[in-house]
Amino acid sequence: MCGIVGYVGEEDAARVLVDGLRRLEYRGYDSAGVAVHAPSGRVEVRRAVGKLRELERALEAAPVHGKVGIGHTRWATHGRPSEVNAHPHVAGHIAVVHNGIIENHLALKQALISRGATIASDTDTELVAHMIAEEGAEDADLETCVRRALNKLEGAYAIAVLSDREPGKVVVAKSSSPLVLGLGEGEMFCASDIPALLPYTRRMIFLEDGEMAVLTAQSVEITTLAGEPVERDPVTIDWSPVMAEKAGYKHFMLKEIFEQPRALEDTLRGRLDREAGDIHSSEIGLSEEDARSIQRVVLLACGTSHHAALAGRYYIESLARVPTVVELASEFRGRGAVIGEGDLVVAVSQSGETLDTLMAAREAKQAGAKLLAIANVIGSAIPRLADATFYTHAGPEIGVASTKCFTTQLANVLMLGLWLGRRRNTLPEERAAELVEALAHLPQQMEQVLVGTRQLVANIARHHVEARDALFLGRGLNFPIALEGALKLKEISYVHAEGYAAGEMKHGPIALIDGHMPVFVLAPRDSSFERSIGNLEEARAREAQVVAVATEGDEAVRAVADDLIEVPAVLEPLYPLLTVLPLQLYAYYVADFKGTDVDQPRNLAKTVTVE
Ligand code: G6P
Repeated sequence: MCGIVGYVGEEDAARVLVDGLRRLEYRGYDSAGVAVHAPSGRVEVRRAVGKLRELERALEAAPVHGKVGIGHTRWATHGRPSEVNAHPHVAGHIAVVHNGIIENHLALKQALISRGATIASDTDTELVAHMIAEEGAEDADLETCVRRALNKLEGAYAIAVLSDREPGKVVVAKSSSPLVLGLGEGEMFCASDIPALLPYTRRMIFLEDGEMAVLTAQSVEITTLAGEPVERDPVTIDWSPVMAEKAGYKHFMLKEIFEQPRALEDTLRGRLDREAGDIHSSEIGLSEEDARSIQRVVLLACGTSHHAALAGRYYIESLARVPTVVELASEFRGRGAVIGEGDLVVAVSQSGETLDTLMAAREAKQAGAKLLAIANVIGSAIPRLADATFYTHAGPEIGVASTKCFTTQLANVLMLGLWLGRRRNTLPEERAAELVEALAHLPQQMEQVLVGTRQLVANIARHHVEARDALFLGRGLNFPIALEGALKLKEISYVHAEGYAAGEMKHGPIALIDGHMPVFVLAPRDSSFERSIGNLEEARAREAQVVAVATEGDEAVRAVADDLIEVPAVLEPLYPLLTVLPLQLYAYYVADFKGTDVDQPRNLAKTVTVE
């Protein structure tokens, strides 16, 4: 979740680094810093706690000019946010920025202290700097020092390193944490994520685990940690830098909410076989034989992706009749879960880098399960591990609270259910054709909901902005949406919210309801409708302020709800992609009216690469 940027070229390095770091702000951070090779021949460091503006102030107060440097935004894992804990960390002639966690840091620290090192910070990263510096006998070049030190480290890292002694060079390495190299003309870059580099180059190389690279202005040399040369062609990334900017919206999150029709269109593009009422096999990446032979599906995910996975269970069970379970990746890991051949594990992750999901997927794969990734970031760790990847094509998501990636994940798990159902002969062709056709029309209906309900939802949010709690109720496919509505509100507006299966309301949450509590009831005209209305009435009887999300023109619901948000009538499996939209808008407006940091809520990170 920390952001790394590195630069070697002819430009002012500090400026390029801060600019790159700004494009990584969405990852979440509490402090920032840069190290630059100054004309004096020394590596000079500037660091600051807080937003990048503070780092810029530090650079204005004490400018450092040079053409080679590394930069970092830190999200605290070892040691509280402070200037001394901010990266880059320096030891002797070495400066290091790091993303990840060094597992054997306690043993390393003791060993370093016993050899006379003075450790200034509470971070594991400073230990890395000392370890590399210790290897620095006069005959060893920087890459050799890095290689030797890394062989003694355990854990996850992406690092970028400078040495006083080798001014034209940045050395990088990775294990588990993401790192991408950017190839320019007479300049080279590295970063922990693509958007940092988009304004500078589209030609990128993804470093693999156990690899390192030496960057100079003219060249990039990749080797394994053992020193074996690695040949890899760059890929061209076609995301435009504008896609990663706010495009006139007040926040990235609002922009991304409104991007959902486009994102869904991109995700569906080339996948729907409208003639055959099917999903193209080439897009899913599994074989026909896989589809027929699997005996169970296990969906693994965290956070919002876990809610998409919960919807996935409904889709896969109902359309393909395969027993399906959903696991929180953090709870699956290390418990000795029963998994193996015959299981299809589907790891759902926007970033493709969430450590718990990655580790859980690895464990399942090692046990013999087939691994399918559903991810948004191309070439990220989980897709690289997986036997096949079914990408969402939502484009970069900058807001920490996931929106467009959630709805595109829903589309992918639905398409997976459809594809499996057709191959297992559990889904009649006519029904599949109907669903495929309906999916093709969904982006337009999303647009209708977003544009049509925006003002109403903003008004409802204004009305409830002071409410301390909120309850979200849904049944069937709308249960995961209730969970997601509550999560969105918690994440960005810091309002306590619960998402509940509506049928469970009377087993607890009903005791919380009073006249101050907004209760969202998801009650479209689906097979749970009558029972959902029963729950709505129960909430109303306890004086709750009921907001219903229901099918357009539903006068019966209008008569019993305080507020009614309408979505167009669609086939039952498609409702979640519409009912979630007003809940995203509600969370957004409550947060905006409260004045919270919508795009970077406190304590949260976009990509959680620690346990
Ligand atoms: C973090 C993000 C969430 C996201 C979750 C899982 O908590 O703030 O928005 O849902 O990680 O991330 P993934 O990249 O695996 O979907």
